[in-house]
Amino acid sequence: MDSPGQNLKGRDLLSLHDFAAEEVAAILDLAAGLKEKQKSGVPHPSLQGKALGMIFQKSSTRTRVSFEVAMYQLGGYPMFLSANDLQLGRGESIADTARTLSRYLDGIMIRTFEQAAVEELARYATIPVINGLTDLLHPCQILADLLTIREHKGTLAGLKLAYVGDGNNICHSLLFGCAKAGMDISVASPEGYRPKGEIVRLAVEDAAAAGSKIKVLADPVEAVGGADVVVTDVWASMGHEAERVGRVKAFAAYQVNDDLVRHAKKDYIFLHCLPAHRGEEVTPEVIDGPHSVVWDEAENRLHTQKAVLALLL
Ligand code: CP
Ligand code: NVA
Repeated sequence: MDSPGQNLKGRDLLSLHDFAAEEVAAILDLAAGLKEKQKSGVPHPSLQGKALGMIFQKSSTRTRVSFEVAMYQLGGYPMFLSANDLQLGRGESIADTARTLSRYLDGIMIRTFEQAAVEELARYATIPVINGLTDLLHPCQILADLLTIREHKGTLAGLKLAYVGDGNNICHSLLFGCAKAGMDISVASPEGYRPKGEIVRLAVEDAAAAGSKIKVLADPVEAVGGADVVVTDVWASMGHEAERVGRVKAFAAYQVNDDLVRHAKKDYIFLHCLPAHRGEEVTPEVIDGPHSVVWDEAENRLHTQKAVLALLL
């Protein structure tokens, strides 16, 4: 019988919801194996001769650098494609861009605004398309988060994760990722900034299959109570900068600080996808404190994306 990882060749990674729990586990297992190989200097050039195009319509530090190094370490070639320089920026359609790039490349990673744009690119491309962040989802980040949690806690199923803050792309992908991994997730967000109902509905289906629980709450103390993992993200995501002042007011009671995290388990870990705004969504005491694993989390973008690339391309 094929292993769950073998079935991924040629697939897109648009949302973690599209993947079976066993497939997510296979990605994490391969990532752990590749991490081990890289740390011990064992070459693993499984993508020799293959090229990845990386389209960025928003800024990036981690995603760009980790994907580029991932392709390099796998023996392939990464190509950074700024949307401003592509004809896409002058009005060439997504469909024609997808058809053209498919004749040169072996995969496309895209960071953009609308999830629909990534889906359209995938519809017309004949090569795998990987979502490197949209306004709706950030699946690559959450694969790194799951690996980080598994490394620090030894397991995923049965843990409780609390997400405090904006019901954004990170929150949405965490809902899917936790559900696939059999983790309970409690989200605390102010009125008007809750995760989208449709995403919660789909994640609840995934959670029911895995036997885990999802709660969307207003009270951050209730969400963090007894949590093994506490996560937050910026209050104003890329594209929402103009709303920053209003958002700082709306989220004032949702800061992850020492007062809040004392409701979590004693050995809780803190995650943040970065970039962080110290003094807004999280205090320096928490993000730079002993429970924070944000640098392991950032590193694991590299290892999980290598697994995704090795399996899909
Ligand atoms: N976490 C993350 O995706 O970071 P970048 O925006 O720097 O890529
Ligand atoms: N929610 C953030 C994540 C950045 C990696 C944003 O979309 O800007």
